[in-house]
Amino acid sequence: MSLLCFTIAVLASTSTALNPLHFAFPENPTGPTPFQISVDPDFIQSTAEKARLYRPSIALQDQPEWEEGPPPSAMNELARYWADEYDWYGVQEEINANFSHFTTTVSGTEKYPYPVPLHFIHERASDSNDTSEAIPLLMLHGWPSTNLEWAKVIHPLAHPSNASAPRFHVVAPDLPGYGFSPAATHSGLGVRAIGQAFHALMQQLGYTEYGIFSTDLGWIIGMWMAADTTSVTAHATDFWMAAPNATDIERFAQNQTTPEETAYMLGVQELQTHHFAYSAVHSTKPLSLALAMTDSPVGFLGWMWTLMYSFSDGYVYSKTELITEAFLLYVQGTYGNVRLYMDALMGEGLSFPKTTVPTGIIEWASPNGPYPKLKDASLVPRSWTERNVNVTFFRQHDFGGHFPAISQPEIWLVDVRDFFAET
Ligand SMILES: *[C@@H]1O[C@H](CO)[C@@H](O)[C@H](O)[C@H]1NC(C)=O
Ligand SMILES: *[C@@H]1O[C@H](CO)[C@@H](O)[C@H](O)[C@H]1NC(C)=O
Ligand SMILES: *[C@@H]1O[C@H](CO)[C@@H](O)[C@H](O)[C@H]1NC(C)=O
Ligand SMILES: *[C@@H]1O[C@H](CO)[C@@H](O)[C@H](O)[C@H]1NC(C)=O
Ligand SMILES: *[C@@H]1O[C@H](CO)[C@@H](O)[C@H](O)[C@H]1NC(C)=O
Ligand SMILES: *[C@@H]1O[C@H](CO)[C@@H](O)[C@H](O)[C@H]1NC(C)=O
Repeated sequence: MSLLCFTIAVLASTSTALNPLHFAFPENPTGPTPFQISVDPDFIQSTAEKARLYRPSIALQDQPEWEEGPPPSAMNELARYWADEYDWYGVQEEINANFSHFTTTVSGTEKYPYPVPLHFIHERASDSNDTSEAIPLLMLHGWPSTNLEWAKVIHPLAHPSNASAPRFHVVAPDLPGYGFSPAATHSGLGVRAIGQAFHALMQQLGYTEYGIFSTDLGWIIGMWMAADTTSVTAHATDFWMAAPNATDIERFAQNQTTPEETAYMLGVQELQTHHFAYSAVHSTKPLSLALAMTDSPVGFLGWMWTLMYSFSDGYVYSKTELITEAFLLYVQGTYGNVRLYMDALMGEGLSFPKTTVPTGIIEWASPNGPYPKLKDASLVPRSWTERNVNVTFFRQHDFGGHFPAISQPEIWLVDVRDFFAET
């Protein structure tokens, strides 16, 4: 038994041509170019119209809520809100006002020999009289997410109020196909090729050496970057997956695993048995899923919300947060983002080599979420992580869930500062 087989247009004012991205994006930016997010008003309107035409699902009268997906009544309410009240323009204005956005293009590599256009937030640390230098920090999100997963921590990282805290030059790209980084036009832009593109981005910005903070699919990208370049000085992550080896499985069968190992293995088994639909579909038939999802913003929101609800340790998302998250992954159509699982989980994704890069692992349990049996599914035993990397920092929290930069930003910041201060 393998427990873990883990496993706008702005229609450019000069041109009236239909922009398939549905947002303004400069043609072939060759270096970092200031950017304003500006989604095509016609597309915003037609999306709201689709939400208005949302066709509710039937429901079973005796079914426990959330057993098989979000409650149809809650989806009806989200659809109505999206159609009548949701204000993308207000959100867009905030996102533009809060962060310094840029676009650029980097060259492809052997695995993906095409240009890779990118959108990223770049927040440079404030000047300080302190002689210590700010640390360039590349931040890597996963699915369902964009660089706005870091919205609450970007400014505190760059401009800490505590003068002795480390300061960071934050670079937070959207993965290709997520948010406003255009999706790949060909196959091959998988976790490793994306890592090469992000490395090229850091070089373009003049950061010859840098740290990484990663989560979710971004963690796999970060693991490859640590192996493929000599520029990664330290890697912190709030995510880890490790498959048991044959000895672990044998010990488990003989009731010889530690309580911690047992809890993790049972948590992952629960996850893979009852909560892994998204991963199975994304990694095997992403297009067949995307055909429906790209045509139904509300349906796609339900698909995403299933994961967010399951793994956020009880954090309650506002309607605006949920719809914004869905819209950001919907603007380009959903194929370009769900497809990354295929490469990440089915290809060479998880076979990254062992590295000596100092690595900080911060684990967050989910006791307050709706599924108590998933509580420990994210608490990989430290000794298992040490099989792959040089673990120089390890911290576990008995709460927090899968999106701690959103649900627990203050504690998240303490951990990240502690790791980089020590490293
Ligand atoms: C923008 O910043 C304001 C003030 O810090 C904050 O309340 C708001 O949530 C931020 N919006 C986004 C989209 O990050
Ligand atoms: C640096 O020190 C000078 C002189 O003490 C002071 O005026 C300035 O505000 C300080 N700058 C920062 C960023 O702390
Ligand atoms: C400021 O940061 C330093 C170094 O990280 C830490 O030791 C100290 O406790 C912090 N002070 C406060 C008030 O948070
Ligand atoms: C599993 O990993 C442990 C180290 O944590 C090692 O002692 C053991 O030999 C490994 N088993 C196999 C089959 O690789
Ligand atoms: C497994 O071991 C634990 C203690 O380590 C014990 O409480 C439990 O009864 C054992 N279960 C079986 C099936 O042997
Ligand atoms: C792990 O990283 C630390 C800090 O850089 C370093 O001192 C140590 O030699 C590394 N360990 C290994 C096994 O590479």
